[in-house]
Amino acid sequence: MWLSRGCVKAATSSVGRRLSRAVAGGRRKSHAAAAAAAAVAVAAFMPEAAGFQGVRDRAGLHEFSVASKENFWAAVARRRLDWISPFRGVLDCDMERGKVSWFRGGQLNVSVNCLDRHARGSPEKVALIWERDEPGSEVKVTYRQLLEMTCRAGNLLRRHGVKRGDCVTIYMPPCPLAVASMLACARVGAAHNVVFAGFSAEALAERIRDARSSTVITVNESVRGGKVTRLKATVDQAVRSCPTVRQVFVVMRTDTPVAMTTADVAMEEEMMSEDVVCEPAAMDSEDVLFLLYTSGSTGKPKGLVHTQAGYLLYTALTHKYVFDYHDGDVFGCVADIGWITGHSYAVYGPLANGGTTVLFESTPVYPDPGRYWEMVERLKINQFYGAPTAIRLLLKYGDQWVRKYDRSSLRTLGSVGEPINTEAWEWYHSVVGDGRCPVVDTWWQTETGGICIAPRPSEPHAEIVPGMAMRPFFGIKPALMDGQGQVVTSDGASGALCLTQPWPGMARSIHNDHQRFVDTYFKTYPGYFFTGDGAHRSEDGYYQITGRLDDVINVSGHRIGTAEIEDVVNHCSAVAESAVIGCSHHIKGQGVYAFVVLKQDAQEADLASQINSSVSNKIAKYACPDHIQFVQRLPKTRSGKIMRRVLRKVVERDLDGLGDLSTLDDPAAVQEIIQGHRDLCAKQEKSSSSSSSSSSHDDGK
Ligand code: WTA
Repeated sequence: MWLSRGCVKAATSSVGRRLSRAVAGGRRKSHAAAAAAAAVAVAAFMPEAAGFQGVRDRAGLHEFSVASKENFWAAVARRRLDWISPFRGVLDCDMERGKVSWFRGGQLNVSVNCLDRHARGSPEKVALIWERDEPGSEVKVTYRQLLEMTCRAGNLLRRHGVKRGDCVTIYMPPCPLAVASMLACARVGAAHNVVFAGFSAEALAERIRDARSSTVITVNESVRGGKVTRLKATVDQAVRSCPTVRQVFVVMRTDTPVAMTTADVAMEEEMMSEDVVCEPAAMDSEDVLFLLYTSGSTGKPKGLVHTQAGYLLYTALTHKYVFDYHDGDVFGCVADIGWITGHSYAVYGPLANGGTTVLFESTPVYPDPGRYWEMVERLKINQFYGAPTAIRLLLKYGDQWVRKYDRSSLRTLGSVGEPINTEAWEWYHSVVGDGRCPVVDTWWQTETGGICIAPRPSEPHAEIVPGMAMRPFFGIKPALMDGQGQVVTSDGASGALCLTQPWPGMARSIHNDHQRFVDTYFKTYPGYFFTGDGAHRSEDGYYQITGRLDDVINVSGHRIGTAEIEDVVNHCSAVAESAVIGCSHHIKGQGVYAFVVLKQDAQEADLASQINSSVSNKIAKYACPDHIQFVQRLPKTRSGKIMRRVLRKVVERDLDGLGDLSTLDDPAAVQEIIQGHRDLCAKQEKSSSSSSSSSSHDDGK
């Protein structure tokens, strides 16, 4: 009190005026000093920021990247990519027609950016650690070795007539030669089309035909979870219906010989006689780098097209900043190279940054549920990037499998592919990460090329909310759309998630079907890229993905994300995981159908009422499941995604419409679920008929 009165008095006297000027000057100086320190800090964080006017902190950097996207991306592209000839234009874009191009006029070679420039400075640095299925038998490949391998493969492809503009289909498990094959395509200017090695012959053939590949690269056999699969035999079967295929290169993963036809080439053997120098093709920024097939909600799989410079730049930048990757770190993305996550974060992002990346060939439970963490200890992994489904699976086995191993090398934990429920998030954070590592829930899609929303980068120590992707990456400006197609401006609101402006990593087209590209992504909300996902923006402006919009159900006119219900169900202590879908309901329009997997030793008794009261307490009564079917396991793709489409068909009793089950990890799961559904229906009918007779009796009373 006294002090404040004294200050007021001093400020009114002339001495006081001088004093207050001096104080203000001091404050200005200290403001200036603080601003300068902040500018230094942000430039240390991202050197390009030094050239961005008015950028003082990381939030400012994000604002700049959105408001001045061309300046931002041009600066990043100049600094982080090696160009054969510099680009002239930064961005050409017509979102309504789905026409986007970045860095026009620029020429570069992606394999040079991923290999040569690192091999020059640090040839003996490890580029790949191939974590083979057999634990403890990992193989390390240096940048020099990977460059040589890639050059030999590139020369071999060239000698066999593969040229710029061709598309090579790669049907291989994660292994160094698969990566060298991808990069060899990039070296000679061919596009690659990696098909997940779990796809059936038919699915493979469909993709080969659509891509019009003349060349396929495969292995004799794959080994996963101790199980051997004859991939070459699948390729043999597939190519019978692919007239475009002229040659199949075969790599020997195991010692088991395979029958070779005249079209087959023993790849490793032939590579031995190739030169270790291979002239890189000068590729235009917008030439195709790869096709990657992914499922749409309807119709045949679509081959999304990604191009050279923008994709590489975007994966490099997201890899560095979302995961806080530093030189010397070991990056462990356990996704298969057959999916976009494997492309962007097991291969292109880490290699563009000169990093060391793990190629994981096994499963989370082979030979036991400690596999990931034993690998983390053995390889000293610094960033671990996996899928929620695996986390939920491991959670079921208990903490001891984690605690057994030293995980002190871990600095960042990543999650991708589906919403991560809070229980799994908490377990990942507190048990796997010992509460020390930021968990980054990364939202993105095959279409986006790289991570678009994630908790990092942000100010150091900025809060991370469990189960939320939270913050848009540099250059990403999301919008939520309401039912009328209008932009939702308020926070604390939900809507259809769109991205309002182009970013370098976005897909450029659907192979052979640009119109489908336009219709799927740019027609629903003209001028915007529509992701197909729903999202909620919290009062704090953070994004939470609520799931595919086709997974949103409408119960008595109330919209509810199935993911939201799953989150609550999964929180029940006896529940390992669940899948919730909408089912038709004669009064409410749609009802809620929950498939629930229990933890080991958990009992079914009373669980239904426990689940119902949890849902009713945490969301609302209307969200309570109408049906709960306890199952041993859920139908999943081999990449771990729950196939809700299959569950919906079972519940709709449309067994003829189950569609292609070849991508399922374990097709037997479906039969169990069909039977379980029948039993549940029979039980419910019985109890409703007995309750209706008792109710009629009651009525009669
Ligand atoms: C979902 C995988 C919630 C989403 C990289 C998206 C997610 C689809 C998340 C793309 C996440 C991906 N939280 N949902 N962090 N990440 N998804 O093409 O529905 O295999 O549209 O790409 O997965 O799957 P895709």
